[in-house]
Amino acid sequence: MMGPRAQLATPADWPELAELRRRVFVQEQGVPAELERDAADATAVHALSRDDAGRVVATGRLVLDAAGPGRAGIGRMAADARARGRGHGAAVLAVLHETAAALGQTAVELHAQVTARRFYERAGYAAVGAEYQEAGITHVTMVRELVGEDPARKTVGGSGTGCDGSVRESRDTSCQTPGVGPH
Ligand SMILES: CC(C)(COP(=O)(O)OP(=O)(O)OC[C@H]1O[C@@H](n2cnc3c(N)ncnc32)[C@H](O)[C@@H]1OP(=O)(O)O)[C@@H](O)C(=O)NCCC(=O)NCCS
Repeated sequence: MMGPRAQLATPADWPELAELRRRVFVQEQGVPAELERDAADATAVHALSRDDAGRVVATGRLVLDAAGPGRAGIGRMAADARARGRGHGAAVLAVLHETAAALGQTAVELHAQVTARRFYERAGYAAVGAEYQEAGITHVTMVRELVGEDPARKTVGGSGTGCDGSVRESRDTSCQTPGVGPH
């Protein structure tokens, strides 16, 4: 059986993405709303997955060169609580990996909440270094080299990119959990 298929977001998807992130990070996890959104949202590449009814149930974003030249940051990974465990999060990650490779990135890095560590390990990530506290949540840095992605599959640019429709280099390194400072 085929699992969910994610796609890059268009600017028109932004309200639904933002609402999902608000529910997960602000409402469920208690992150202050003013920290949940940041400047990187305007330039990041956003992805989403929809349920059978067409609702956006998972999202995540990619920030180019966030962890150094050629090393992207992935963050703001969130799935609707009622839709978890069905592969939507994995589908979003896969699209972000393909997109990163297509844009010339060679690795992706993120700060994982330790509760999501297995989720990222299954997607090919390895933890580096010790666990640490950020915003009162235990995190671990995880890295995945982008080998074997298929950039040819993906056309990147135009409407499938940032909320302002552009892909621009960004040094913003904010990552997995909103408001935990630079990664
Ligand atoms: C982490 C998250 C994005 C995964 O999305 P998802 O759509 O449930 O992911 P998938 O269905 O592709 O994979 C499910 C796996 O995620 C892991 N997972 C982590 N937290 C989970 C949760 N609260 N509910 C269900 N699965 C969870 C499980 O290990 C599960 O693996 P399993 O199949 O062995 O049980 C989602 O659980 C979520 O939004 N959590 C709350 C916000 C969060 O913690 N974000 C990540 C911060 S690093």
